[in-house]
Amino acid sequence: MTQPVNAQRRQLVVGGAAVAAAGMLPVVAKADDKVVKVGLIVPMSGPFASTGRQIDAAVKLYQKTHGDTVAGRKVQVILKDDTGVAPDATKRIAQELITRDKVDVLAGFGLTPLAFAAAPLATQAKKPMVVMAAATSVIVDRSPYIVRTSFTLPQATAPLAMWAAKEGIKTVITFVADYGPGIDAEKVFAKHFTEAGGEIIDNVRTPLMNPDYAPFLQRVKDAKPEAVFAFVPSGEGANLIKQFNERGLAQAGIRLICTGDVLDDDLMASIGEVSQGVVSSHHYSAAHDSAANKAYVEAFMRDNNGQRPNFMSVGGYDGMHLIYEALKKTNGDADGTKLLDAMKGMSWESVRGPVTIDPETRDIVQDIYIRKSDKVDGQMWNVEFDKVSQYKDPGI
Ligand code: PHB
Repeated sequence: MTQPVNAQRRQLVVGGAAVAAAGMLPVVAKADDKVVKVGLIVPMSGPFASTGRQIDAAVKLYQKTHGDTVAGRKVQVILKDDTGVAPDATKRIAQELITRDKVDVLAGFGLTPLAFAAAPLATQAKKPMVVMAAATSVIVDRSPYIVRTSFTLPQATAPLAMWAAKEGIKTVITFVADYGPGIDAEKVFAKHFTEAGGEIIDNVRTPLMNPDYAPFLQRVKDAKPEAVFAFVPSGEGANLIKQFNERGLAQAGIRLICTGDVLDDDLMASIGEVSQGVVSSHHYSAAHDSAANKAYVEAFMRDNNGQRPNFMSVGGYDGMHLIYEALKKTNGDADGTKLLDAMKGMSWESVRGPVTIDPETRDIVQDIYIRKSDKVDGQMWNVEFDKVSQYKDPGI
């Protein structure tokens, strides 16, 4: 005989209670258990806000394209602004996300000191921490729960140092922001360039916050190297290139070479034609020639008032891909250790090219491209002309 719906439900609940009382699995799951929560901590304000905006836009695009449900679980992203310059704030936010919001995954981390600040909490809570931006080599060693989808400065820099020596450049001054990734870039450039026969004639380090490059550039100009190798974090490049030209370094015959952080895709329009011919190295260019990348750039620009995606966006997009694919592998189980294991060794075709998460180091293995800034269809792009395939972080 058919019972009224309510009576059926009552029986189920009673049955569930009986099973639970017998020490077996609970029958009724709370609706909230279906949601997998990703705590996304990025700078949405302050001097590095472009990093947060790019990552947030990419995460939204990923969910728009792939849906917000995977392996039967809804993926909810909780976005938090850590202002980009206060490790204590990042740490407090990560703690709140773990204890109050009960997130399953931590993600984002716009700068190295902020990734350092959150790392011990990921270890303690056993939650995967997907580093989508920060790029100092040592970050992955700070917690066994860290997985990186961005890049490392040594990984991006070593191929450029080898290219510069091959190009016949003999003397270089390194010019870097004075903190983790800058020091990595300085040391690694010097190591590979001198091994190949080049000479470093000075090491210039500039402040991370509110930098005025003028006195440092004057020092470079007076020393007359053949080239300057530069790294400044994403968002700062336009300022550096403007002052490089205003100080007359290019006119003095000093060549600029840099990591792609300086010729950031979302700054290329504001930098303009003064970047013509500058050679840089990086893991992503919006000009990367593949069908997947063309579709990505088009969709990103459509959704963001014509703004070009940069390498930070790709770290965010691939970070979401890693979380979704890991959930598929665990059949929707969001247990931190299981998710982490599923992420290790994962390979996929990113919009940047093929990538793998090294199962030992949890760092990303990817192609590093040598690019030249050039005008294409009336706009400046970083056009790739050479690459080192599937390059691991070489360390410092
Ligand atoms: C970092 O702080 O690790 C960082 C930030 C911006 C970059 C690269 C590295 O462009």
